[in-house]
Amino acid sequence: MAVEDAQVQSFLFYKVGTAIGISGVIWYFRGTIMHHIYHRMFAWFMNRITDRMNRGLWRKKERLFEVVKDYKEKVNKDLSILEVGAGTATNLKFFPSNTRLTCLDPNPHFAGYIENNLKTTDTVVQAEIVQGFAEKMPLEDNKFDVVVCTLVLCSVTDVSKSLQEIKRVLKPGGIFLCLEHVAAEKNTWTWTFQCIANPFHYYIGDGCLTKRDTELYLKDATFKELQVERFMSKSLPFWLKPCILATASV
Ligand SMILES: C[S@@+](CC[C@H](N)C(=O)[O-])C[C@H]1O[C@@H](n2cnc3c(N)ncnc32)[C@H](O)[C@@H]1O
Repeated sequence: MAVEDAQVQSFLFYKVGTAIGISGVIWYFRGTIMHHIYHRMFAWFMNRITDRMNRGLWRKKERLFEVVKDYKEKVNKDLSILEVGAGTATNLKFFPSNTRLTCLDPNPHFAGYIENNLKTTDTVVQAEIVQGFAEKMPLEDNKFDVVVCTLVLCSVTDVSKSLQEIKRVLKPGGIFLCLEHVAAEKNTWTWTFQCIANPFHYYIGDGCLTKRDTELYLKDATFKELQVERFMSKSLPFWLKPCILATASV
């Protein structure tokens, strides 16, 4: 065997073999890696950026949560609120006084951040943290006056199922509100960039899709009194700027 052939074979055997071996180990332990490393890092990252994102979305969130305050006055009682995909519970400052809050999130590494944030608010009188997915909430029917989600429907695996679950856990007459980034109008520069960014964003954003047309899903879910307002966010990266504020009731 020529010296060059032997070198190629040795390269294939050791280097490529090692690369395949390492990839195999990563693939085999992908669940553990996702749970202990990726999801922990994602929770840490969200905690670092949510205050900044909140500052940019502040006025819109104030408008959105005005609806909750009006609803509280209308029903004249303290409210039980479910925050789906709560993350670090960045919306605490917007809740009305005496709120009984349930934070639902599949990522258990958010719990510590939620507990810390709860210590800084006086709007919430009772809180529970539940680990679970929007598509199959481990929660009773007709339990909440209000369900909220902000920047979550872009990440759930099944939007229609999640919206049906939201309707299930809302009391009759209860309200649903969301603030979501959505797909831009087709064939615009933003939409083109959303298409390019989508696969990368999905991996760095824990399953977040840049070009989901959430408004269509909301219309299909047959809520009562659905109102949707489109706006361009100032604080999100430009491929996430097209956003909606939506309110609905059941
Ligand atoms: C971009 S973060 C937004 C967090 C928070 N709502 C906020 O506004 O800062 C998306 C959140 O959705 C959660 N999430 C992802 N998939 C979900 C699912 N299927 N059901 C419920 N929450 C989900 C993530 O764990 C994460 O907390």
